[in-house]
Amino acid sequence: MFIGVDYYPEQWPESRWPEDIRLMKELGVNVVRLAEFGWQLMEPVEGKFDFSLYDRAIDLLTQNGIKIVLGTPTATPPAWLIKKHPEILPVDQNGVTISFGARRHYTVNSEIYREYTKKIVTEMVKHYGQSEHVIGWQTDNEYGHEKSDRSYGEADQKAFQQWLKEKYQTLESLNEAWGTVFWSQTYTQWEQIPVPRKVYQEHNSSLLLDFNRFCADAYTSYNKLQTEILRNFAKEDQFITHNFVYTDQAINQWEMSKDLDLVSFDNYPVWGGLAEPITPAAIAHQHDLCRGTKDGKGFWVMEELSGAQGWSKIGYLPRPGHIKLWTYQAISRGAEAIVYFRWRAAQFGTEEFCHGILDHDGLPKRKFNEVKEIIQSLNKFGDDWISSYYKAEVAAYYDLENAWAWQIQPQSNAFDHKQEFMRYYSPAHRLNAMTDIISKDSNLEGYKAVIVPVYFLTNPAFNEKIRQYAEKGGTVIFSYRSGVKEQNNFVIGETLPGALAEMTGIKIHEYESLQSGQSNKITGKSGSVLEGTESEALIWCDLIEPDTAEVLAEYAGSFYKGTAAITKNQFGKGTVYYIGSAVDEALLHTLYKGIFSEAGVSFTETQNGTELVKRENDGAVYLCVMNHSTENTSALSLPDGKWMDAASDEAFFGEMTLQPLETRVLTKKK
Ligand code: GLA
Repeated sequence: MFIGVDYYPEQWPESRWPEDIRLMKELGVNVVRLAEFGWQLMEPVEGKFDFSLYDRAIDLLTQNGIKIVLGTPTATPPAWLIKKHPEILPVDQNGVTISFGARRHYTVNSEIYREYTKKIVTEMVKHYGQSEHVIGWQTDNEYGHEKSDRSYGEADQKAFQQWLKEKYQTLESLNEAWGTVFWSQTYTQWEQIPVPRKVYQEHNSSLLLDFNRFCADAYTSYNKLQTEILRNFAKEDQFITHNFVYTDQAINQWEMSKDLDLVSFDNYPVWGGLAEPITPAAIAHQHDLCRGTKDGKGFWVMEELSGAQGWSKIGYLPRPGHIKLWTYQAISRGAEAIVYFRWRAAQFGTEEFCHGILDHDGLPKRKFNEVKEIIQSLNKFGDDWISSYYKAEVAAYYDLENAWAWQIQPQSNAFDHKQEFMRYYSPAHRLNAMTDIISKDSNLEGYKAVIVPVYFLTNPAFNEKIRQYAEKGGTVIFSYRSGVKEQNNFVIGETLPGALAEMTGIKIHEYESLQSGQSNKITGKSGSVLEGTESEALIWCDLIEPDTAEVLAEYAGSFYKGTAAITKNQFGKGTVYYIGSAVDEALLHTLYKGIFSEAGVSFTETQNGTELVKRENDGAVYLCVMNHSTENTSALSLPDGKWMDAASDEAFFGEMTLQPLETRVLTKKK
């Protein structure tokens, strides 16, 4: 198992390198990522390439048995290039050109930039592609991150118009698909079509959706330009990856990963200015997204937080045990390698306060010792653990285009797609039900329940897939505002929930958007699994009229008091639930327990903040037990049998108590 650090030798005197490497060896590091921001160093003058600094660092590292992952340096085009070709710079939707001075200051739609990219990547891979010490390549760094997913300049507009021409072939079909008759927007020439810069009101939502699709395609093609060059010159066994960010941005990780050997991502449970880490479920869902990006294939965490992060504002200081907890959580959910960000906090530049394993003084302290213990433990059982598999019984449906459609039209000022996806994903995580995050192309076979949160922009192929899944006996959980738009982003012309009506057994003749601060109430129907429960109804209320469906809960307020809010429908051999409002965690906890029990989903109730993740192979079961609480101990009832701590060989059975932030991997022979 590879465990290492993100190292920036260029930020330290060469005289320090031997001490760095001595400490890395003491730590047990066996891989280092470097050079992803080193373009100026590798091409100090246009056309003059100089890899000598990285050569010397790589020599020292490899002499000490440390393998190398190299980053192509295209996230930071050098000053000489921008001076010569300022048209490379991206433009924001106000028409303001983004300045040189930080990073990600380029648009992928610049043909000039693509030419310079080809040159630096070609020279770099010609130099390192045959090295036995280089095991992999990371293209660029976090495509689209920090608002760099969309650009609104001349080059982008030209490329967008070309993309539209290829998609729609005729202006007539574009005008029809976008409904441009509205507000006199019909286009009579391709060149009239704008990138969606600032308007007084709001752009046509179909133009905006297509612009996102275009931006994502542009990045996928830009990445492919790099991977093709790398594959031309790199040894077969050098993998190619990209360190993704999953924030509903205009980047299609699923498409892009088709050109990658493996997916990687940067695991930051907390970042600059945040007082607390994000929830355990929020961290977990990123791993599930990553694992789902390449159909369950293991991924690398190319940046695993090891210290307080931040640029001008520093975030929460990870407590003793947090680095281990977040490392184990990542591996339990599919990470096959962990690379800690960063080796040492820099003394200058924008990231002076992005702390690492070592801080500014370069001395090994608490974090160093915690990582050392982690690596020592993983050296005992990590290879077996990562060779086991993660088997989910529950799937949560995530569709990028649906996320974009919601970003474009949130319909309530209280709506946020990520927040609402988590509302329906988290109760499964809270019950420790093994969950995958699937996309519209996923195979639903083998799942006992599929959660389809806020399915606003529908996809006809997935509509049919989920219908057949239910009909054959699957359990489906839809949430509010589902079935509203057909794939081309028009609101359907039939009664809601449209294509989902038969399987949900309901009609929705009216609905209400609730803004921040507004709410209704929902009460559980007596005799139903929700008897005696009540919940706030936030953000949205679908006024449900049951056809064949059973009512599980009703609204308790407003003119629609007594109207159905949550329903359950037998459809074919399956069961389809519809949750018509943004209801609270407690109600969903009760509802999901009932649903999972009926669907035969295995789940384990634990104290809030305690996470269990099971992996298994033919010979053994691995149970990762994690207490995310910094204050409370956690009492656990272990599944039958004698469990051994995979690192310490301590035996556990029956009841066990986890201390705050305590994490263990328990194993049991099959
Ligand atoms: C991101 C980037 C890194 C660095 C870290 C700081 O993940 O990939 O270059 O900026 O954040 O936390």
